[in-house]
Amino acid sequence: MIVEEIKLDKLNAEFFIQEQCRAISSEVGNGTSVNALSGGVDSSVVTMLAHRALGNRARTFFIDNGLMREGEPQQVVSTMSKLGVPVERIDAQDEFFKALKGKADPEEKRQAITETFYKNVFGRLVRQSGSRSLMQGTIYTDVEETVAGIKRQHNILAQLGIDTEEVYGYKVIEPLIRLRKPGVRAVGKALGLPEEVYNRPPFPGPALVTRVVGEATRERIALVRKATTLVEQELAGVRAFQCLAILHEDKVTGVRDGKRDYGHQIEVRCWDSKDAVTASPTRLSFELLERLAARITTEVPGVVSVTYNVTAKPPSTIEAV
Ligand code: XMP
Repeated sequence: MIVEEIKLDKLNAEFFIQEQCRAISSEVGNGTSVNALSGGVDSSVVTMLAHRALGNRARTFFIDNGLMREGEPQQVVSTMSKLGVPVERIDAQDEFFKALKGKADPEEKRQAITETFYKNVFGRLVRQSGSRSLMQGTIYTDVEETVAGIKRQHNILAQLGIDTEEVYGYKVIEPLIRLRKPGVRAVGKALGLPEEVYNRPPFPGPALVTRVVGEATRERIALVRKATTLVEQELAGVRAFQCLAILHEDKVTGVRDGKRDYGHQIEVRCWDSKDAVTASPTRLSFELLERLAARITTEVPGVVSVTYNVTAKPPSTIEAV
């Protein structure tokens, strides 16, 4: 399949919305569609298009994998609810943690999440719903990166040569496939999404798992989640491309109340970037870094060391896993 890009300067968001709604209606016919909302801009725009095109024949699921940031599941569902779009929240935390158990290898961790998501949780929801149409927010960059062999974790099974109808039992509709991120943001704005959604900083599909080196247990995810909250709070004013906390696997010796305390290390990363392909560390003030380190070592149990990454991408990557 050859996909033709719609460049930002050629995009008429209103026209695009009408055209996609017509296409979705004709593709789904009298049936129903299902889609998974992660809270990111792509899946939020797809959710809005699905509901605009199909009304209550569109079902949107938010799959709570237990790997999101603090308060994120509630926030995503409530934002859509305010826009009149019902979202069904599915608690699948146990399934994801079971799949991640004992896995320390980055590729194995990603694979566990992808499999649990598609084959188990979402696949099951789709089958139970009786719907044959699955909508998802694949964008033009995902196609390019998959074709180039850079990414294999993005949700474009069709591009990977997998016949989704045969393998997973459903058909995939990808209304955003001809747009890049700025185009998706423009459509999101035209659909009435709030700015914090259409301009949301990137957050990876495998969520906090990309920020835990080694096994991603419930406890280790909880630890990096707490550190992430503090990083996002303290660095909110910086308006960086992305900022994050990473939990390292090795423990280091620290000292607390005059006693040796063998504890966790958190690495903070804050990035300046346009497109995530290359990135450089933001030149944060030392005062800000010190405040952040003090908060993390006080408020996140067991952390005795906080470091700041000063390596550019490449050779670093934005996430650690
Ligand atoms: P890296 O770490 O490869 O990240 O420099 C580049 C951008 O992509 C995001 N990212 C992901 N997004 N699934 C996603 O949907 C993933 O597995 C994934 N890994 C990284 C990352 O947050 C950054 O914006």
